[in-house]
Amino acid sequence: MEIESLLLLMQQRKSIRSFNPDKEIASSDVKLILEAGRLAPSAGNMQTWHFFLIKDREKKRMIADAAYGQSFISDAPLVIVVAIDKIRATRGYGNRGLYLYGIQDTAAAIEHILLAARALKIGSCWVGAFNEEKLENVLYIDRDHYRTVAIIPLGYSEEHPRNRGRNSLADIITEL
Ligand SMILES: Cc1cc2nc3c(=O)[nH]c(=O)nc-3n(C[C@H](O)[C@H](O)[C@H](O)COP(=O)(O)O)c2cc1C
Repeated sequence: MEIESLLLLMQQRKSIRSFNPDKEIASSDVKLILEAGRLAPSAGNMQTWHFFLIKDREKKRMIADAAYGQSFISDAPLVIVVAIDKIRATRGYGNRGLYLYGIQDTAAAIEHILLAARALKIGSCWVGAFNEEKLENVLYIDRDHYRTVAIIPLGYSEEHPRNRGRNSLADIITEL
């Protein structure tokens, strides 16, 4: 892939917060999106991510509730909840794995997922505002094993969000 195409994909990815609930994502596309997550880099290649896939309408409603009522989540035909596999993370690097690399590994996987979705013209949003305990209860997730870090609603949308803009390179670079 040329750098221009990669940057264009990154520019075109925007958070989508309204979905057509009736337009399913083909399972072949779901597989491609998950494959993108699987290919992410991770500390020591420990791959500390785990993906929970939710299509059930009532469960999605409860997920939106755990996310402080962000109701667009329940309209998405597919919701991926990304979690840190705490056992795997700890096995690799102890507390640093659990509290730092697990967060970074899953963040890398999430971004891969968002970009892959965009490449398939599927909208998505990285949702981080939620009550972890409530979400994990809704999904019957074993809290000794997993820590949920993101909710990603995915689906087709008519939304054309405005460009949120970014700080200039000059503002975020220090040359030493
Ligand atoms: C860690 C993280 C948490 C976020 N949590 C939420 C959220 O709870 N709800 C939401 O609507 N958007 C959430 N977002 C999306 C951001 O608001 C969005 O990425 C940012 O405003 C830039 O807009 P863009 O994605 O359209 O470029 C989150 C993004 C990140 C990276």
